[in-house]
Formats: sequence, C-alpha cells, structure tokens
Amino acid sequence: MTSTLSLQRLAWLARSFLLLILLSVGLLTALPNTALAAEASPPVDSAALAKAVVAMEQLDQMRTSLASMLEGRSEEPTIETMKEVCKPVGLRAIAIGKQNGWQVRQVASKYRNPDHAPAGPQETQVIDLLELHPEITGLWEPAGAGESAGVTYYRRINVEPSCLACHGTKASRPGFVAANYPNDRAFDFNVGDLRGLYAVFIPELQEALADSLAEVS
Ligand code: HEC
Repeated sequence: MTSTLSLQRLAWLARSFLLLILLSVGLLTALPNTALAAEASPPVDSAALAKAVVAMEQLDQMRTSLASMLEGRSEEPTIETMKEVCKPVGLRAIAIGKQNGWQVRQVASKYRNPDHAPAGPQETQVIDLLELHPEITGLWEPAGAGESAGVTYYRRINVEPSCLACHGTKASRPGFVAANYPNDRAFDFNVGDLRGLYAVFIPELQEALADSLAEVS
C-alpha cells in the first residue's frame, strides 16, 4: 500500500519536473524573441523625440515674442520691421532641421508662402484633426516627409491677438504682404484659430547614420 503511494507520488513528481523543464525551455526560447521585438519597435531615439518637442516650443515662442514686440511699438512699422516676424521664424525652422538631421517645415492650408502648402495627405489629415480638436497641442505620426522611414512630430500654431496685424482681414494686411504674396490665403483669421502647424520629420537612426556617412565620403 505504502509503496504504491510513494510510486504514484514519484510519478507525479517526475511529471511536474518534466513540466517545469518544458516551461523553462519554452520561456528561454521565447524571451530573446520578445527582447528583439522590443528593440526593433522604437524607430528613433527617444531623446531626439524630446528634443524636437522642446525645439518647437522655443520656435513658437520666438514668433510670439517677435509679433508682440511689433504690437507694442508706438511708431508706424516700416516694411523692414514688418518683415521681422514670420520670415525669420521660417529660416530658424530650416536651421533647426539642418543642425539635427531633421526636416522642419511650417504647414498651413491657408498659407501665405506657397512653400508652406500641405505636401501630402498626412499633413492635410493632421491639419483637419487639429482644427477639430483644439485641445490637442501636438502628436506623432509614423513616416511623413516623402514617406522615408522615420516619425514626424506635428505641433499646432494658434492665432494670437498680435498676429491679426498681418493675418487679420484681407484689407488690413500690410502693403508688403499684398505686394509680395499675390496668392496669399493667410488672412481672415480670428484669435484662437488654428493658423497651421510645425512638422518635424526625424528619420530612422540607421538612415540618419547612412546619410551622414554619405556626406563624409
Ligand atoms: C508683420 C506681419 C506678420 C505678423 C505680425 C505675423 N505674421 Fe505670420 N506671416 C507673415 C508673412 C509675411 C508670412 C510669410 C513668410 C514667408 O515668406 O515665409 C507669414 C507666414 C506665417 C506662417 C507660415 C505659413 C504660411 O502661411 O506661409 C505661419 C504659421 C504664421 N505666419 C503664423 C503667424 C502667427 C501665429 C502670428 C502671431 C503670433 C503671425 N504669423 C504674425 C506676416 C506676419
């Protein structure tokens, strides 16, 4: 009686041991796969993502302070002072892109400079989405900018009171705007409207490396 019992227990123990071995072998083979999958998923360095967010906040701040400086001036603004707002912001955007290996664009459906028209369906979709959802400040999308591998950060640009001097009614636009931008659509805005967005395309790390190596050779 006792011997049958202990035999049964032994058999049970052996089965559990086998199960344990099978389980750990399974785990060991599964684990490296999950680790690899996790490594493969983030296409760009998270530090670059954070840097892009900060850079766009600073760029937007630059426009706000330039526009508000103009607003505070008592003398009639000259053409030169008038030009000191959005053109330098555009140049700064391009410079930020060059410094970091990104592509930084300003995009607007109602654009003043035709270079800033939406370049593809993704940009138009994001503009429509941000138009519908004023509570969304920014978002990430895979790819963008010619659809090579990478991610794009989109950040909204809102109309502030100081913008209306040049983006208010069509008739109130400064003369240099009407003269230099014959196909201008960037007027008739109200405070709080979506003016457009910043689009920062960050290429995948491998691509960025290949690009910089190609530049060196
Ligand atoms: C002094 C006139 C002036 C003021 C004030 C001004 N803008 Fe502009 N804005 C322009 C001009 C001119 C352009 C086209 C610049 C270019 O050729 O790249 C422009 C272009 C832009 C663009 C790029 C997209 C496009 O339509 O070409 C954005 C976005 C923009 N402005 C937003 C703003 C916001 C937001 C404010 C207020 C914080 C503002 N602007 C105030 C004159 C002005």
